[in-house]
Amino acid sequence: MKIAIANAKGGVGKTTSALFLASAAALRGIKTRVWDADVQASASLWADKAIEIGQDLPFEVQAANKSTLMKPTDADELVFIDTPPAGDVMLHALSVADVVIVPMSDTSMDYQQTWITMRNIPDTTPKFILLTRAEETTNAFKSLIRALDEQQLPRFSAVVRKRQALKLAVGTNPRKLYEYGDVLTELLSSVRRAEGEE
Ligand SMILES: Nc1ncnc2c1ncn2[C@@H]1O[C@H](COP(=O)(O)OP(=O)(O)OP(=O)(O)O)[C@@H](O)[C@H]1O
Ligand SMILES: [Mg+2]
Repeated sequence: MKIAIANAKGGVGKTTSALFLASAAALRGIKTRVWDADVQASASLWADKAIEIGQDLPFEVQAANKSTLMKPTDADELVFIDTPPAGDVMLHALSVADVVIVPMSDTSMDYQQTWITMRNIPDTTPKFILLTRAEETTNAFKSLIRALDEQQLPRFSAVVRKRQALKLAVGTNPRKLYEYGDVLTELLSSVRRAEGEE
């Protein structure tokens, strides 16, 4: 199964979410890989740094291009695709994904680009907004939740809080998963529900 992590806005937490969700899956014994489809290679560099400090990740991170994205995945594995914030490769990832996760925070720029991203995902592909760097007590966050729910945009009910520890996790093996464990649980149950309906 291919799970694209995408948003046309940069810096919303795509790479962080890809690495943490892959870690959560691997720690549950699920066969997991990350495809790094971003030319910035942030996910690959994260894995390299982790190896350098002796914290190998429990999954492989592989560079991916449009051709890689077309390749089939094993039925029992989860492949998280980290995407660039714009361009052809991102659109391609949206078109091949079985599920799309769209991370965003509570700025109006994020909201605008999230809309655009959601519109570019095929109708039949399950898609979920993931709120990251969340500051749940702020008015900005509360009004974002209201707006998303009013428009019935699908989202994970678990939100990832703004945390210094998550910011500092770049280049390390994420052992503590924070809210990403709950996000993975929601993702897996929605996938199982969809499979049950087929
Ligand atoms: N929950 C969080 N709390 C605090 N900082 C975070 C959180 N999630 C991500 N960050 C930080 O925000 C920045 C952007 O995150 P990240 O690199 O994952 O975004 P991205 O969408 O992949 O960016 P790009 O579009 O450049 O690829 C990074 O410095 C990261 O460490
Ligand atoms: Mg990134």
